[in-house]
Amino acid sequence: MRVLVVGSGGREHALAWKIASSDAVEALHAVPGSDAMQGLATCHPDVKAMDLDAIVALARSEASDLVVVGPEDPLAAGLSDRLREAGIAVFGPSAAAAQLEASKAFAKEFMARHAIPTADFRVFEDFDAARAHVLALDGVCVVKADGLAAGKGVAVCGEPEGAVAALTEMMRDRRFGEAGARVVIEERLEGEEASYYAITDGTRVTTLAAAQDHKRALDGDRGENTGGMGAVAPAPVVTEAVEKRLLEEVVHPAIAGMAADGTPYTGVLYVGLMIDRTGAPRVVEFNVRFGDPETQPLMLGLDGDLVPLLHGAATGGLGNATPVGFRGTAVCVVLASDGYPRSYPTGRAISGLAAAADQPGVEVFHAGTRRAANGGFETAGGRVLGVTARGENIEEARRRAYAACDEIHFEGMHLRRDIAERVLAG
Ligand code: AMP
Ligand code: GLY
Repeated sequence: MRVLVVGSGGREHALAWKIASSDAVEALHAVPGSDAMQGLATCHPDVKAMDLDAIVALARSEASDLVVVGPEDPLAAGLSDRLREAGIAVFGPSAAAAQLEASKAFAKEFMARHAIPTADFRVFEDFDAARAHVLALDGVCVVKADGLAAGKGVAVCGEPEGAVAALTEMMRDRRFGEAGARVVIEERLEGEEASYYAITDGTRVTTLAAAQDHKRALDGDRGENTGGMGAVAPAPVVTEAVEKRLLEEVVHPAIAGMAADGTPYTGVLYVGLMIDRTGAPRVVEFNVRFGDPETQPLMLGLDGDLVPLLHGAATGGLGNATPVGFRGTAVCVVLASDGYPRSYPTGRAISGLAAAADQPGVEVFHAGTRRAANGGFETAGGRVLGVTARGENIEEARRRAYAACDEIHFEGMHLRRDIAERVLAG
C-alpha cells in the first residue's frame, strides 16, 4: 500500500512512525512532513497542509492508496471531499462532518439533538449579553471561542473578573481572530478528564485506548491552557464500566446521529470527556482527528498493525480489520519553548537527542524542530519534542520518559515534571 500522511507535527511524526512499521506499507510520503520525519517518509516540504489542490495532485502522481490527514484545518476546508472526488481513499471526515470540531456551536447543537451528555451551554455573538450571562453565573463557567483556535481558545473561569477578561480577549481584542466573533459559554464540569478514540467507517466502530492529556502549562494543572504538555495512555479512569457507558451513551449515538443527519462520519472521532465520581461520562468536546500529544503514547503502545484499521475506515471495510490492543502503558512528556503558549523564541540548538532515543522503550517525536546548519536539530515551534516511553506500567513508562528528557537540552526548555503523576496517585 502507498500511504500519504498530511501534517508536520508530533502527532504526524508518531503516525508516520507507526504506519512505517506496517508490513502492508510499501511507500510512505508526507506533506509537508518535517526534517525529523525524513527517515520514515519521503517529505514534500513545498506542499503545505492547506494546499488542497497540490495535495490531491501529489496523491494522484504518487498513486497513493490511502491519505491519512493529521490536522483538523484541512479537513474543515474539505480535503477529504476533494480526495474522495478524485477517487482516493482518505482517512478523515468530510468538511460537513468536520464541523463537529470546527464549530463548537454545531457540536453542542448536535449533542442536544441526539441526547449525548454534555455541559449546558449558550451561544453569544453580542459582548454585552455574554457579559451579563457570565455575571449571572458568578463567573463559574467555561468561555470558548467558536471557531478553531488550535486548542487554545478556551478559558475555564472561577470568578467574574476572570470570565469577563476572557470574553474581552476573545470578543473585543480578537486574540483568536474571527474565531472570537461567536462564543459558547458552558457550565463548568467537574471530574477527571480523558480522551477516547473511536475509528469508524461511518457505521462500524473499533476503539483504541483512552488517553489523558495535560493541558495546562505548569505543574499541578496551573497556568494557561495549551495544546497539551504531556499525555498517558491508557487512562486508568476509563475503566471497563466507564468504557461501556461511553460506547452506549456517546460513541454509538454520535456515529448513528451523524449518519442520520446526512453527514456520515468517517475517520477517527476523538471524544474529549469529563468523567464524574459516579463514572458518568460527559462530552467536553469532539475532535475530528487524533489528539496531539495523545497520539504519541497511543502509537507507541498499540500492539498490532494500525494500517488495516485506517484503510478500513477510509473505504467502508472496517468490519474486515482486526482490532488492535494496547501493551503496557506509554507516557509522553512535551518539551516546550519558554513562553509557549504565547510567543516564544526559535532557532535554539537541541542537544542529547541520540542519548534520549537510546534509553529503553523510548521514541522522541518531533513537534517543532528543523535541521540546523551544523546538521543537528534546532527549535522551530512552541511545542518542540514529545519524549515518549513505553513500560510495563505507569511507573516504568514515566521513569523512562523523564530519564530521556534529562538527556535533552535547549536554551529555555520548559517541561512539566508531573505528567501521569495524578493517575499514578489516584
Ligand atoms: P476544549 O478546547 O473544548 O477541549 O477545551 C479545552 C479544555 O478546557 C478541556 O480539555 C478542559 O480541560 C477544559 N474545559 C472545556 N470545557 C469544559 C467544561 N465544560 N467544564 C470544565 N472544563 C472544561
Ligand atoms: N491534546 C488535545 C488535542 O489534540 O486536542
